[in-house]
Amino acid sequence: MYILKKKMTKLAYIQTFGCQMNVHDSEKIVTKLLDQGYDITSDINATDLVLFNTCSIRQKAEQKFYSELGKVKLIKRKKPQLKIAVAGCIAQQEGRAFKKKRPFVDIILGTQNIDQLSGLLEKNGIAIDQKDDISALELTAERQDKVKAFVNIMFGCNNYCSYCVVPYTRGRERSRSCHSILSEIQKLGESGYKEITLLGQNVNSYKSDCSFSELLRLIHQVSGIERIRFVTSHPKDLNTELIDTMAQLHKVCNHIHLPLQSGSNRVINAMNRSYTYEQFKDKTIKLRETIPGIAITSDIIAGFPGETDFDHSQTITALKELQFDGIYAFKYSIRPQTKASTMQGHIDEDIKVQRLKEILEVQELTTGKINKRLEGIIVKVMVEGKSETNIDRWAGRTTSNKIVNFDQASMFKLTAGMFVDIKIIQGFRHSLDGEIVSP
Ligand code: SAH
Ligand code: SF4
Ligand code: F3S
Repeated sequence: MYILKKKMTKLAYIQTFGCQMNVHDSEKIVTKLLDQGYDITSDINATDLVLFNTCSIRQKAEQKFYSELGKVKLIKRKKPQLKIAVAGCIAQQEGRAFKKKRPFVDIILGTQNIDQLSGLLEKNGIAIDQKDDISALELTAERQDKVKAFVNIMFGCNNYCSYCVVPYTRGRERSRSCHSILSEIQKLGESGYKEITLLGQNVNSYKSDCSFSELLRLIHQVSGIERIRFVTSHPKDLNTELIDTMAQLHKVCNHIHLPLQSGSNRVINAMNRSYTYEQFKDKTIKLRETIPGIAITSDIIAGFPGETDFDHSQTITALKELQFDGIYAFKYSIRPQTKASTMQGHIDEDIKVQRLKEILEVQELTTGKINKRLEGIIVKVMVEGKSETNIDRWAGRTTSNKIVNFDQASMFKLTAGMFVDIKIIQGFRHSLDGEIVSP
């Protein structure tokens, strides 16, 4: 009698650090792993493969990864057959040196090499070469969410902001063809996706067989897709055409993320950002005039090399003047290879901490005030799922990207992807509380 030996499924554990680009790359990695017969597990102690998709934007992000890697190294000591793979921005930037220093890592996978993962799973090794052919980057992605999807529209960055590592980890800027993006989005629309977020380091410099505004118009016609978002916009390339297009297309959400970085022209210039504070401010005025109710969010860096107390006070003034809906603020972090790392006048850690604290305090007041103003207003919310803070409640987002928590309605069943009208009862700093008034 023959006993059929059941082929054991191999298990993979994935941890992702960093931005949406990495989250989406991990979805592509998962697709490759499933193709190779792996199942995904959330138990790091019972897996055959641990894959880290890493981020090197700031030291903190790196440190988090290195501490996790240290833990896995210990697991591997007891379980030598455990495969360890390092993907993403640290893998790309450190490449061969990384493997030399850490021989227990089996696979190094660059940001443009996910298509080579299958081969590496068999024989281990390093793949970090840059890809001229964009089709190697246009891979199928097994998306985690069933109603919201990320879609790459471009890869890489040519801007070389003096603090930033991304041009070294993601390579040159390349845009996908309009046709290829559209066909991906059409398929998403057909499979029930309602919201897409277009991804690029600088979506406003999208350049292909159509412009970014034209691309938005074409996506707007895709049936099934109800909301279109995009990140990130570089202020230097945000033009009137795009602002007008956003205003005309109701599916394009009422939100723009527009990183200012600093309120001081001297610092903005040293950052190689190619705009002045005044130009930035004019763009926010134009945005608010053309698109009523638009939410503007931003990024700020505290303590860039050479930043004086006066420069910092200009950032504080800018935050008070511009009234962003929210910001992500970070202490400046030295990154290898970047121009700023070799600049004079690096700021002491305690001053950076103090400046960041002040920045966050000023912004919290503004965000709190803006969200309070929404109380009593009825907003359209796309239901996303159960609330993260209370599983008895539901959560969704407004078109302006604000999170709203609410209770299940008695009159109908809620599902992700549904649109409901919600009256805002209370505005907090990081979310809104509301109640359903109608489906
Ligand atoms: N391409 C996008 C986002 C880049 S990274 C853009 O240009 O807006 C996201 C944010 O991280 C940046 O906007 C910046 O505020 C911050 N950042 C990047 N490098 C940094 C560094 N070395 N130190 C501190 N913050 C940094
Ligand atoms: Fe980095 Fe600047 Fe490129 Fe954004 S635009 S990824 S901050 S270099
Ligand atoms: Fe993103 Fe971090 Fe790389 S922010 S592009 S994963 S360095």
